[in-house]
Parts: sequence; structure tokens; C-alpha cells
Amino acid sequence: MHTEPIHPPSRLLMGPGPITADPRVLRAMSAQLVGQFDPSMRAYMTETMTLYREVFRTTNEQTFLVDGTSRAGIEAALVSLIEPGDRVLVPIFGRFGQLLAEIAGRCRAEVHTIEVPWGQVFEPDMVEQAVRRVSPKLLAIVQGDTSTTMCQPLADIGRICRDNDVLLYCDATATLGGNTFEMDAWGLDIATAGLQKCLGGPSGSAPISISPRAVEVINSRKHVEAGIREHDDGARGTRIASNYFDLAMIMDYWGSRRLNHHTEATTMLYGARECARLLVAEGIDHTVERHRRHGAAMLAGVRGLGLSLFGDVTHKMSNVVAVEIPAGVDGDAARAAMLNDYGIEIGTSFGPLHGRVWRIGTMGYNARKDAVLLTLAALEQVLRARGVEVTAGGGVGAAQEVYAG
Ligand SMILES: Cc1ncc(COP(=O)(O)O)c(C=O)c1O
Repeated sequence: MHTEPIHPPSRLLMGPGPITADPRVLRAMSAQLVGQFDPSMRAYMTETMTLYREVFRTTNEQTFLVDGTSRAGIEAALVSLIEPGDRVLVPIFGRFGQLLAEIAGRCRAEVHTIEVPWGQVFEPDMVEQAVRRVSPKLLAIVQGDTSTTMCQPLADIGRICRDNDVLLYCDATATLGGNTFEMDAWGLDIATAGLQKCLGGPSGSAPISISPRAVEVINSRKHVEAGIREHDDGARGTRIASNYFDLAMIMDYWGSRRLNHHTEATTMLYGARECARLLVAEGIDHTVERHRRHGAAMLAGVRGLGLSLFGDVTHKMSNVVAVEIPAGVDGDAARAAMLNDYGIEIGTSFGPLHGRVWRIGTMGYNARKDAVLLTLAALEQVLRARGVEVTAGGGVGAAQEVYAG
């Protein structure tokens, strides 16, 4: 079979992630490999930890990468914290909350859930009552549920968890770098993310940060693998059910012992390090503000086209907007036209929202004026071709007003 070298079509990825990767991240990823214990590799690992402490806004020593997509970070956090029979409370406000409950169930937790309708977030009172009722070991919650575009305020939930001696895990995959995120100030115990959203990289590496009290819980279950165990590595507690996602061993691998675990995904580490380096160089506050500004321009633009938004817009993540598909328009056909005629990808939706809303992202490398204006201009044409009455130039004009403001 004859095959050509990989040469993907030129695309502007304006969905809910993955987004077009920053070329500087791709360049970093094309660097040659070095050995896992090469001094330069050790230095890159240490630098990566320092950079991600800034990104997560934390002093947590245990801040590093789990190899795998964002889901790998979630699984590592939950499987390392949860022992069979532990009570876990999951407030669900979209698809990714359901994922947390599912993974906690696979860890054989006693899972308790509370829910609000898609398009809303939780009031602290509702969470506090559930915490008092369930008395969980762990509360697991998503910050920004990409399925609904809602962003859950976390400061009060952090306080509630501290007051009730509950560990708090947060999935910040879709929000980190593009929305305010305060690991320490909000009292989070473990947070995980991915590169493919506001961090501007490809998926495949999951930054994680772990508070000292969560480290203690995880290390109380430490069982070092037989082949690398030393005499003082006495096993204790219930063994973590996954080897690959055993954070007690992964902490030894990233820590001063550099105890062998997996073979580091070096190319992903180069990429993850560059994502964080670019963010820190830009300034985290500045990056968050950039996402706010371009998100606001996109929001004004879709409204300027006469489209309606889904959900409680006051609690929307800054980096993605859910747009109601106008009556009579086939959402998938319109997305296909965006892709085939303009090279622009916008997102579909899951479950109850499928066929009802498109999700349009402005994140990472694509939180940019030209990307916003091009998407709005193309969307206007695609809607017009389907007989939707749109104000000529209404989308681009409204976005330009935000930029002028
Ligand atoms: C909030 C959130 N959590 C988890 C995931 C899963 O991430 P991955 O597909 O990288 O494993 C996603 C992916 O879109 C997400 O948006």
C-alpha cells in the first residue's frame, strides 16, 4: 500500500477543544528525545513542575504531569484517593460531572450525586446540605463543564469542604488558563487539566496538582512495585487499584527519588512545558483577560447574528459559547458547511443538547481577534445559505464593538 506523509488540511478549530495548537508548542514537540535520566530531562521535569505551580496558582510541591489525555488525570486522582466503600459526592451539572461519578463508581466508591438542570450551576447551600447529609470523604466536581459551557464558582465549595473535613477534587480541563483558577486560595486538594483547551496544546498530557493533605492520604496507600522496591519501602494501606495511575508511585518518579515508573512521554512533556512557559511568559492574569475579551466578542457576535444562547450566561465559561441552532436548520449540515467551505470547525453537543446547540470556542491559540471575526463572517454566510434571516455584518460588527470598547 502506498501512503503519503501526513499532511492534514488547514483548519481553524473553533470548537470546545481540541483547538488549533500554538505553533510554538508544536515546534517544542519536534525536538529530539533525550534519555529519561539525562540531566537535561531532569531539569525539564523540574521546570515543568515549577511552571505548572504558577498555572494552578499553588505552592503544592506535588505538581506534575500524568501521561495521557485529561481523563488520565481524572482517573489517577480518583483511583489514588478512593478506597472501595468510600463515600464520594459528585455535584453534576453536565456530561463531565457524570463522567466523574462513573469513574468514582469504577473505583468502587459509594457514589452520591446531586444535580441541577444542564445550563445551570450549583448554589453553595445545595452543596453544603448534601455534604452534611452524605458526609463524604471526597467531593469531586468539574469547574467548567464543556458540555453545557457552565463554569461552577468554587470558592464557597472549597470553604464548605474544608469546614467539613472533605477532600475536594476539581476537573479544570476546560477552564485552566482561560478562567480564574485559584488552587490554594479556594482550598482545592487535587486538580487536573489537559493541554487541548486554554493551554493551547494537543491532548495527551494531564497536568495535576496535589495538596499536602491529599498527598498524605495517597501516601498512606503506598505500595512500591516489587522490581524497584527498596528495603525501607514498606507497603501500607489498601493498594491503589491501578499501577499506571498510582499517584503514590508517580510522585516518587517526579520527586527527588526519581524512582522509575513509566517511560516518560518526552514529546508530550516538551509540549506541556511549552504550553505553561507561554502562559507564564504572557502572565496568567493577562491570559485569563485575553480569553474573557475574545469570549465576550464571540458572544456579542453570535447575538449580533440574531442567535440565542443556551444556559445561564452569567455563569458561562469565558472560552466557549453554546448557541441555539435556529429552527429549521440542520445543525450537522451547517457545521459541515463551515468545515468544507471555510475550513472552520465548530462543535456539536452531547446528549440532550445534541442537535439543539452548537458550541463555539475561543481558547488557547485561537483566543484571537482574527479567529473570532473569521468565524462570525463564515457563520453568517452559512446561516444565510440556509434561509436564516441575519443582519448583514451583524456578527462581525457586534464583535468589533466589543474590541473597540
Ligand atoms: C471538562 C472536561 N473534562 C474531561 C474531559 C476529557 O478529556 P480528554 O478527552 O482529554 O480525556 C474533557 C474533554 O473535552 C472536558 O471538557
